[in-house]
Amino acid sequence: MSDYQYDNETVKGFIISSIFWGVVGILVGLWISIQMWAPSWNIPPYFTFGRLRVVHTNGLAFGLGIGAIFGICYYITMRLTKRPLLFPKLARFHLYLFNAAIALAALSLFAGMNQSLEYAELEWPLDVGVVILWVIFAVNIFGTIIKRKEEQMYISLWFIIATVITVAVLYIVNNLSIPAGLFKSYHLFAGVNSANVEWWYGHNAVGFIFTTPILAMFYYFLPKSTGIPIYSHRLSIIAFWSLVFAYLWTGAHHLIYTPLPDWIQTLAIVFTIFLIAPSWGSVVNGFYTVGTDWSKMQTNYLTKFFILGITFYGLQTIQGPTQGLRVVSQLIHYTDWVPGHVHMGTMGWVTMTVAASIYYIIPRIYDTEIYSEKIANTHFYLVLIGQLIFSITMWITGIQQGALWKAVNPDGSLKYTFMETLVRNYPFWKMRTVGGVIFTIGMLFFIYNIFMTIRKGKSLAAAKA
Ligand code: HEM
Ligand code: HEM
Repeated sequence: MSDYQYDNETVKGFIISSIFWGVVGILVGLWISIQMWAPSWNIPPYFTFGRLRVVHTNGLAFGLGIGAIFGICYYITMRLTKRPLLFPKLARFHLYLFNAAIALAALSLFAGMNQSLEYAELEWPLDVGVVILWVIFAVNIFGTIIKRKEEQMYISLWFIIATVITVAVLYIVNNLSIPAGLFKSYHLFAGVNSANVEWWYGHNAVGFIFTTPILAMFYYFLPKSTGIPIYSHRLSIIAFWSLVFAYLWTGAHHLIYTPLPDWIQTLAIVFTIFLIAPSWGSVVNGFYTVGTDWSKMQTNYLTKFFILGITFYGLQTIQGPTQGLRVVSQLIHYTDWVPGHVHMGTMGWVTMTVAASIYYIIPRIYDTEIYSEKIANTHFYLVLIGQLIFSITMWITGIQQGALWKAVNPDGSLKYTFMETLVRNYPFWKMRTVGGVIFTIGMLFFIYNIFMTIRKGKSLAAAKA
C-alpha cells in the first residue's frame, strides 16, 4: 500500500505539538533550575518554584511525552498493521482535544489548582478530559489492530497495547477523588493508602509512559534506520511479558522507611530487583542488533541516538533497582540524587529516542531527506554533554546532602543545620543550569533541523506540482 493513504496529517500535528510543549517545558525547567540558586527569580504568585515545577513536569511528561507517544504510536501502528487508522477523523479530533487539554492544564497549574499528587496534579474536570482523550486513543489503536492487514504482530504493537491498557487503569484508579467544588477535590484514599496508590501510579507512569511506548519506538525505528533486523524476536517477547508483569508491583519502593507496612515495601523491593532482567533483555537485544555492524554508529546518524538512548536506559535500570534497596534509599532518598536519576532517563533515554524517531519520520512523510546530518550530530553531542553535566552534578551533591544530613555529634545531635547543608548545593545547582543550557541549545538545533526539513519537503512538493 502506498504511503499517501496513511493519515500523516494527524501524525505531523502531534509531532509539532509535542515539540511546542517540549520547548515550553524545557524553558520552564531552565527557569526552575535558576530559582534553586537565585531565589529572586521567583515572581509571586504565578511564577514561583511551586507552580513552575509542576508546569515543567506536566509539560514534559504529558505535553512532549504523551504528544509524541500519540503521534508516533499512530505512525507505527498504521505501518505495522498495513492499513490507515480505523477512525481518521476521530484521530484529528484527538489532536485538537490534546492541545486544548494541555493548554488548560498549564493554565490551571499556573493558577495554583493542584490535587497535590505528584504527576497527577490536575483537578478532576481536567482528569475527565484526559480520560476522554485516552479512550479516543484506545478506540483508534485497538480498532486499527483488530482490522489489521498483517497477521503477525511485531513487538512494538505489544508495547503499544500495554501502554494503552495500563495507563488507563493507573490514571483512573489514582484519580478517584471526591469533588469539593469545580476546582477542588480530595483523594478517595486516605493516609498511607493514598500514598501507596499514588506511588503505584507514579512509578508505573515511569513504566508505561517513559518506558513501554519508548521501547515500542526503539524496536520499530532501530531496525528501520539501520536496515538490520532485530537480533531476537523471542527475547523481545520474553522481555515484554516479564517487564509488564513485574512493573506493577514495584511502586512502594518510593515509600521505603515510611509507615507503609514493611511486607509491602519488601515485596516492592523484590520485584524492583527482578526488573533488571526484562529491562536488560531489551538493552541486550539492541546492542546485539547493531553488534552485527558497529560501523553504523559512524555511517548512520540515527544509530548513535538509539544506541546511546538504550545505553542510558540500561544504566537507568541498574541505578533504579539499586535505589530501591533499603541501604541505598536511606542515603539518597529526598536528596538531589533522585533528579539526577530522573534526568538521565528523561534527557538521555526518552528525549534521545523520541528525537531520533522524529528525525526518521519527518523526512519520510514530507518525501525528502533530512536538512542537515551535521546539525543532527551537533544536536546529539550537545544533549549528551548537557545531560551528563546535569546527572553527574546531581549525583555528587545528592550523596553529599545525604551524608551531611546523617552526620551526628558524639552526643547524637545533628552535626549540620539544614541551612548549612543547603548552601553546599549551590555550586552544583549552578552547574546543573549550565548543563540545562547546553541541552536546550542542542534541542534548538534539533527544532531548526526539523523546521528546515519540513520547508525543504514543502518546496520540493511545490516544484513537482
Ligand atoms: C533543560 C533541561 C531541563 C532542566 C534544566 C530541568 C530542570 C529540572 C529541575 C530544576 C527540576 C526540579 C528538581 C527538584 O525539585 O529538586 C526538575 C524536575 C523534573 N524534571 Fe526536569 N529539567 C530539564 C529537562 C527535563 C526533561 C526533558 C524531562 C522529561 C522529558 C524532565 C522531567 C522532569 C521530572 C519528571 C522532574 C521531577 C523529578 C523528581 O520529582 O524527582 N526534565 N527538572
Ligand atoms: C528498572 C527500572 C527502574 C527502577 C527499578 C527505578 C527505581 C526508582 C526508585 C527506587 C526511585 C525512587 C528514588 C527515591 O525517591 O528514593 C525512582 C525515582 C524515579 N525514577 Fe526510576 N527506576 C527505574 C527506571 C526509570 C526510568 C527508565 C525512568 C525514566 C525516565 C525513571 C524515572 C524516575 C522518576 C521520574 C523518578 C522520580 C519520582 C519522584 O520522586 O518524583 N526511572 N526510580
